[in-house]
Amino acid sequence: MESALPAAGFLYWVGAGTVAYLALRISYSLFTALRVWGVGNEAGVGPGLGEWAVVTGGTDGIGKSYAEELAKRGMKVVLISRSQDKLDQVSSEIKEKFKVETRTIAVDFTLEDIYDKIKTGLAGLEIGILVNNVGMSYEYPEYFLDVPDLDNVIKKMININILSVCKMTQLVLPGMVERSKGAILNISSGSGMFPVPLLTIYSATKTFVDFFSQCLHEEYRSKGIFVQSVLPYFVATKLAKIRKPTLDKPTPETFVKSAIKTVGLQSRTNGYLIHVLMVGRLFESQISTFWLGVSFPLSYRIVCNRLAYIHCPAIVTRHLCPVIIIMVVYPRTLQSTSK
Ligand SMILES: NC(=O)c1ccc[n+]([C@@H]2O[C@H](COP(=O)([O-])OP(=O)(O)OC[C@H]3O[C@@H](n4cnc5c(N)ncnc54)[C@H](OP(=O)(O)O)[C@@H]3O)[C@@H](O)[C@H]2O)c1
Repeated sequence: MESALPAAGFLYWVGAGTVAYLALRISYSLFTALRVWGVGNEAGVGPGLGEWAVVTGGTDGIGKSYAEELAKRGMKVVLISRSQDKLDQVSSEIKEKFKVETRTIAVDFTLEDIYDKIKTGLAGLEIGILVNNVGMSYEYPEYFLDVPDLDNVIKKMININILSVCKMTQLVLPGMVERSKGAILNISSGSGMFPVPLLTIYSATKTFVDFFSQCLHEEYRSKGIFVQSVLPYFVATKLAKIRKPTLDKPTPETFVKSAIKTVGLQSRTNGYLIHVLMVGRLFESQISTFWLGVSFPLSYRIVCNRLAYIHCPAIVTRHLCPVIIIMVVYPRTLQSTSK
């Protein structure tokens, strides 16, 4: 019995240390969350980074909302999309509403030979923000081999979701590096955070965007460039085929108003607090790989069922496990060692 006491003393300090560590991490996470979602970085996003903002896929959905939000902050806007009619319409709406200069470039991002035209269109502009937003998904979830016109879908999806991000960055980044400031916002997806079977190519291309953004941010942040990977869950747009917005499927305007607050503060973000809570990243910093390993099979199954937001039980488990161990298992271990 006597020999158990030093072990109990040791365990007591291990437990106390763990509790203190977790308390510190949780306080830090809460402080960070308050700073990002409560205060945000409203002032840092605007013409101070450069006169012009360039938005790909800027005539609808999330891209149009970014264009409007940046114009509202006084930035001149270049819209790059497919249909000239829609470009003209959105461009004159923005010009009239926000009294800023606009330009349009009509290209189809599923093609590869469009970048000379874009380069010409952007020549001489001081670009402060690039939003790589354009993207396409499946018409409906399907097994890889059963995707209609698979050859074309592979080519188009890689061109629009991956090639456009690399090539637009290649065109715009040199000017930003020269001026030592700028921001590149790459719209990935929640589907890029987890494997989503039946949306295989889309999910994989969005993971590319996420990794590309994280790597680029590390390479260029010391040169004054902020690169952000934006990973939304559902937003009520044509692409998502959602007409009626709800709290967890916001309008693109609501989503972008929230996401823009995180520019300069989070290099990887879900952009919208409800989506952050759905994916359980608020306290991510204190989740160990072990807890992630425990919850992943559960999250994975649910993501497979395309009910990603229901994977909250996995998140709760993940966060509660350390607490249960500290509150229940650890005191019992202490009791049994001291007997
Ligand atoms: N909505 C969501 O739930 C959701 C969730 C996660 C991630 N995302 C990502 O967010 C981004 C924007 O999606 P969204 O939902 O806002 O889409 P959206 O409402 O369908 O808007 C797409 C925009 O891209 C343009 N576009 C589409 N295909 C094009 C092409 N081949 N060439 C040039 N422009 C093209 C469209 O212009 P035209 O109308 O002229 O073709 C439109 O301006 C995508 O990268 C998507 O993967 C969306």
